[in-house]
Amino acid sequence: MTNRKLIAGNWKMNGSLAANEALLDALLQGVGAPNCDVAVCVPAPYLAQVQAKVAGTPIALGAQDVSAQPQGAFTGEQSAAMLNEFGVRYAIVGHSERRQYHGESDEAVAAKTAAALARGITPIVCVGETLAEREAGRTEEVVKRQLAAVIHVNGHCISEIVVAYEPVWAIGTGKTASPEQAQGVHAVLRAQLHHAASEHAAGIRILYGGSMNAANAAELLSQPDIDGGLIGGASLKAPDFLQIIAAAR
Ligand code: PGA
Repeated sequence: MTNRKLIAGNWKMNGSLAANEALLDALLQGVGAPNCDVAVCVPAPYLAQVQAKVAGTPIALGAQDVSAQPQGAFTGEQSAAMLNEFGVRYAIVGHSERRQYHGESDEAVAAKTAAALARGITPIVCVGETLAEREAGRTEEVVKRQLAAVIHVNGHCISEIVVAYEPVWAIGTGKTASPEQAQGVHAVLRAQLHHAASEHAAGIRILYGGSMNAANAAELLSQPDIDGGLIGGASLKAPDFLQIIAAAR
């Protein structure tokens, strides 16, 4: 089974009203009818702006985080219901920057995953090892533990989730995992999904993220278990992001 690929941009804490406008104009001009699904995950203050720009286009709207809570005294957080009001289709959960700088545990990531699913938002669940963990030979153990936390989210089918393998040492560093290294971990994740839900495993998209760019995308995306990309830096440059979209088929 070959999945329709998903190319998702993660703008992180970048952009401005003017810069977003220019980036989206260029993307919309160049994207045509893509052979893959495309999304941009934008900072929360720009959801309304980007919703208006991408409505009725092949570009879907994504958020970079979602609260595990439905409402109430959680200063600074955004609920899945609020994201829903802005047409948000995807929400990144458990990005390594959230795990690292905001202390998000596997349990917190699972709760956020459940909150997104309950509102019909597809969570893009990030997993990945640090350099120290890789060097200690712990890559498999770490990514399997992170994935296991979200596999049995109450009442939902695992096939509603997108997984993103993002080795922490490759994020924003220019050091991409080699296609073989990435495929190796993707195969481990696929096997784990197969074990948990054999009838759905093949259809769950596993994205690669970590310094994916216009030059290396085609080779990474041609690996059998790489079903798309989560792209940080290169998603802020329209020609680069468009080239990655073109490489996904
Ligand atoms: P990068 O970021 O493409 O800039 O390495 C990817 C990510 O963190 O999602």
